[in-house]
Amino acid sequence: MSASFRAFVVNKTAEQFTAQAQALTKDNLPPAEVLIHVAYSSVNYKDALACTPDGKIVRSYPFVPGIDLAGVVVESSDERFHAGEKVIATSYDLGVSHYGGFSEYARVRANWVVPLPRGLTLKEAMALGTAGFEAALAVHKLEKNGLTPQRGPVLVTGATGGVGSIAVNILAKLGHTVVASTGKQAEHAYLKELGASTILSREEVSAESNRPLEKELWAGSIDPVGGATLAYLIRTTKYGGSVAACGLTGGSTVNTTVFPFILRAVNLLGIDSVFCPMGLRRELWHRLASDLKPTKLDSISREVTLDELPQVTASLLSGGVRGRTIVRLGDGE
Ligand SMILES: NC(=O)c1ccc[n+]([C@@H]2O[C@H](COP(=O)([O-])OP(=O)(O)OC[C@H]3O[C@@H](n4cnc5c(N)ncnc54)[C@H](OP(=O)(O)O)[C@@H]3O)[C@@H](O)[C@H]2O)c1
Repeated sequence: MSASFRAFVVNKTAEQFTAQAQALTKDNLPPAEVLIHVAYSSVNYKDALACTPDGKIVRSYPFVPGIDLAGVVVESSDERFHAGEKVIATSYDLGVSHYGGFSEYARVRANWVVPLPRGLTLKEAMALGTAGFEAALAVHKLEKNGLTPQRGPVLVTGATGGVGSIAVNILAKLGHTVVASTGKQAEHAYLKELGASTILSREEVSAESNRPLEKELWAGSIDPVGGATLAYLIRTTKYGGSVAACGLTGGSTVNTTVFPFILRAVNLLGIDSVFCPMGLRRELWHRLASDLKPTKLDSISREVTLDELPQVTASLLSGGVRGRTIVRLGDGE
């Protein structure tokens, strides 16, 4: 390992906020059991917030964001991992209160590390990242609550985003009829390529209504948007169907009534990837490498370097990014 390496560091003082690539040494890394040579990270909504002065993600400065990383173990004081092994680490405190993946080297807790499953490259693992894992967790919970392709169409909202794009592609691969909603007129062809059969506008799925129940449309839904969109989904879900609530890009306040729950037995499923138990986490990474592996990962993802992060994170927060952004560290794989 070289004496110094590159990392993307955010810093906030009383006078200024900075976010830029700079040199660090191993001594700058927090203590933890597994030292990883990071090949790829990725940009999630949370990472974009971490790169802004008032994002309310980072607990103390200076800090290295990046809630996802994939790379090769350099050394491990935990016997479960060995030098040379390819691994993934996402979630927990990574990139929030523990230096994250926007760095050529990272030291992480052994309890956060998942061996790279057969069937995925390190780059593919980061094309998926937390967004892909969240989509897989949502699909898993919908299935556990009875969703099958025979039950009817599934709506994915915020469909051109990271969670949305992967969810559309996974559901289509599993044989579901997928309806996608988006605010991006220009991306209808992209969503069709991922497997959406019908595209709705963002306005249509976020319209306010005084009616507690509306026409039954969806057997299930995956919703990274929240707010008025989540309220719309709850009142338009079919009898016994499920809504997987994943995010809040469209707002955090949900105006609903009790009627969809007591008259239509609608299930509102909370989806949290951060503290998903390790057993299920490993199972879902294996599924992401096999039956849930998206067929269009190349169309969904693009690659950037650390130096491009300021522009990428700003664009993501303004809703301008499509799909997933992989961050290559050094030479990558
Ligand atoms: N709970 C968890 O563990 C977990 C894990 C991963 C992600 N999340 C959450 O899921 C959400 C999405 O994450 P992501 O990585 O997919 O983000 P993303 O790539 O930025 O995608 C979000 C999408 O939401 C839509 N959108 C943006 N602004 C909107 C607005 N004002 N109103 C309605 N829709 C809007 C856009 O899609 P269209 O242009 O296609 O409409 C955008 O592409 C975030 O809130 C994130 O924090 C939660």
